[in-house]
Amino acid sequence: MGKILVTGGAGFIGSHTVVELQEAGKDVVVLDNLSNSSEKSLERVEAITGKKVPFYKADILDRDALEEIFSKEDIYAVIHFAGLKAVGESVQKPWEYYENNIAGTLTLTDVMRKHGCKNIIFSSSATVYGNPAFIPITEECPKGQCTNPYGWTKSMLEQILSDIQKADNEWNVILLRYFNPIGAHKSGSIGENPSGIPNNLMPYITQVAVGKRDHLNVFGNDYDTHDGTGVRDYIHVVDLAQGHVKALKKIEENAGLKIYNLGTGHGYSVLDIVKNFEEATGVKIPYEIQGRRPGDIATCYADASLAKKELGWEAKYGIREMCEDSWRWQKNNPEGFI
Ligand code: NAD
Ligand code: UFG
Repeated sequence: MGKILVTGGAGFIGSHTVVELQEAGKDVVVLDNLSNSSEKSLERVEAITGKKVPFYKADILDRDALEEIFSKEDIYAVIHFAGLKAVGESVQKPWEYYENNIAGTLTLTDVMRKHGCKNIIFSSSATVYGNPAFIPITEECPKGQCTNPYGWTKSMLEQILSDIQKADNEWNVILLRYFNPIGAHKSGSIGENPSGIPNNLMPYITQVAVGKRDHLNVFGNDYDTHDGTGVRDYIHVVDLAQGHVKALKKIEENAGLKIYNLGTGHGYSVLDIVKNFEEATGVKIPYEIQGRRPGDIATCYADASLAKKELGWEAKYGIREMCEDSWRWQKNNPEGFI
């Protein structure tokens, strides 16, 4: 059938997806510019699967490098994770985010079509729903106003990829809207490795647990939720990775244009996560209540029934395993990939 190019495959979700693809017997090639990751993650993937991970250190903006990869490798589908993803940084550096994420994807898809490769699975996000019109969020929920340039890159890229597919129905485009991925591979050897102060809740909690940070700041306790703190749909990264294997099967059946939420359908508040983490690990997480973080919404969780119906996929892991696995990774690798 040919190979699957995984862009951003050295990153958090990408590395877990490479494991699941290889374990499903797929032939994988990884491209990453390592701007937010380490090649060591791929060595760890090789140790898990016992298979080589062919790797190109390249940028999706580098047309010549892409031409070379598509000429050398027999690629029939792309799983496109490569992108910048820090919400706050995107507000400071909008040009860099639009250039990297949008121009990068335009370059990638142009080289793809020139080489007759018209199958793509794109990493989108629940952020495209803005402040969602209804909860649980189905794929029918209208897209909303994003509160930052990062979110807009996802929303705009969904539009761009949809338009490309509508103009040429040889394309198969699957847009996967992830909710909040956490957790790590059971081996504890790959996981999320944020640089600097983590923006996201779980890496912040695990850094408090490992002693790198003093306490968790809880951003607001006056939301209209059961305990006043923000509610999200946390999903185990291995479940998310397996969702891509299922999406690939759908692509192989000539899916056309499809959109799926990848979430669990359950919402947990910040304080629920703290409590579950403490119970799962026995480590206490001191916290302080702060003001709301600008741009945050009260509640966001998925109706994931479409992915179950059409992909035969549903999340298997619960919040306890997500906490245990995040902690195993952090405890074994307090400094990340070194
Ligand atoms: P990550 O930063 O760990 O992985 C992204 C990878 O892309 C990194 O390895 C980075 O080096 C690479 N990259 C960035 N720009 C590149 C470029 N121009 N050329 C080549 N490689 C480049 O992030 P992640 O959490 O694994 O996220 C993967 C994808 O999923 C991203 O597109 C992200 O926006 C999306 N997503 C993530 C979340 C989340 O909470 N983690 C939620 C929704 C969507
Ligand atoms: N939170 C804290 N303290 C922290 C970090 C987060 O209280 O130090 C709270 C937030 O206010 C929110 C919840 O924890 O209520 C989750 O916050 P995250 O930053 O972990 O996740 P978000 O839901 O804000 O955003 C994430 C990704 C986005 C993505 C979105 C939907 O960062 O890129 O999920 O997929 F778009």
